[in-house]
Amino acid sequence: MTALIKWKNHHIEDVEVNLLLDTLKERYGYDFTGYARASLKRRLLGLTHYFDVKRLSELIPMVLYDEAIAQAVINRVTVPTSEFFRDPCVWHYLRHNILPQLASFPRINIWQAGCGHGQEAYSLAILLHETGLLKKSRIFSTDINPLFLDAARKGCWTMQHKQHWADNYEQAGGCGAFSDFFINTGATLAIRDEFKQAIEFMLHNLVADDVFKEMQLVVCRNVILYFGDNLQEHVINLLTRSLERGGYLLLGRGENIMGLSEKHPQLLMSDSSLQLYRKHIDGYSDV
Ligand SMILES: C[S@@+](CC[C@H](N)C(=O)[O-])C[C@H]1O[C@@H](n2cnc3c(N)ncnc32)[C@H](O)[C@@H]1O
Repeated sequence: MTALIKWKNHHIEDVEVNLLLDTLKERYGYDFTGYARASLKRRLLGLTHYFDVKRLSELIPMVLYDEAIAQAVINRVTVPTSEFFRDPCVWHYLRHNILPQLASFPRINIWQAGCGHGQEAYSLAILLHETGLLKKSRIFSTDINPLFLDAARKGCWTMQHKQHWADNYEQAGGCGAFSDFFINTGATLAIRDEFKQAIEFMLHNLVADDVFKEMQLVVCRNVILYFGDNLQEHVINLLTRSLERGGYLLLGRGENIMGLSEKHPQLLMSDSSLQLYRKHIDGYSDV
């Protein structure tokens, strides 16, 4: 029986999803076939409403021949939702427990994968600045979506969530005023140049691209929860291989990856409530 989900008068079938994903892959090189189906379908269903088409299949020729429509689909599948200091307890822990350990390295290499509009990357830069480590750190922030990367490079947001982000920062143990890190232009919140310069924003697709080498910290939060089991496995391998021995892997708190340390004996659970893992210092060759 074909799985079919409905919303108002809009229907969506597996076969339509498969054809649309094939079109995106063949035409534009984006492979979303390994993404978790239920959430993918919900997002695609929203698109039928947005473009006011009855069937998802009506979108296929539109995607095939119109790059702007293809980009709209890609934007819908790769959601950039983020916050400054999202899950403050994680940042509090990084500040007090992890960064002091990384401080002994001559260089600190950090890969932050799935950066959206940059709030997480700049939170990292602020934290490193406050702990006196920014100058010897290199942050590589990556995303599959070039439009999100452009926004991240600009480092400018509306004021809408400013109070919430300031509260997050305070709960994360921030020692100044959140607004100190921005040029307040009235309507927008623009990050100061020194933080922009600390981050290299790069296009990188976790499905298809290679490892980053010798990272002391890899942060990939709220990305792989959108992936199916096999793709999650692939990405965990990629992230683990990118870590130097003794380096840390931070996933999102909502990411419930059962038995990750059993499947990946190189990774030791460091804190389960924070989804923080540490790569074994010795004994295991890279996967
Ligand atoms: C929900 S946001 C997470 C943002 C940030 N990490 C956080 O937790 O606040 C997910 C991000 O992952 C990116 N993403 C999705 N699939 C990806 C892939 N295959 N490779 C790299 N990034 C991907 C999306 O474009 C989006 O910016």
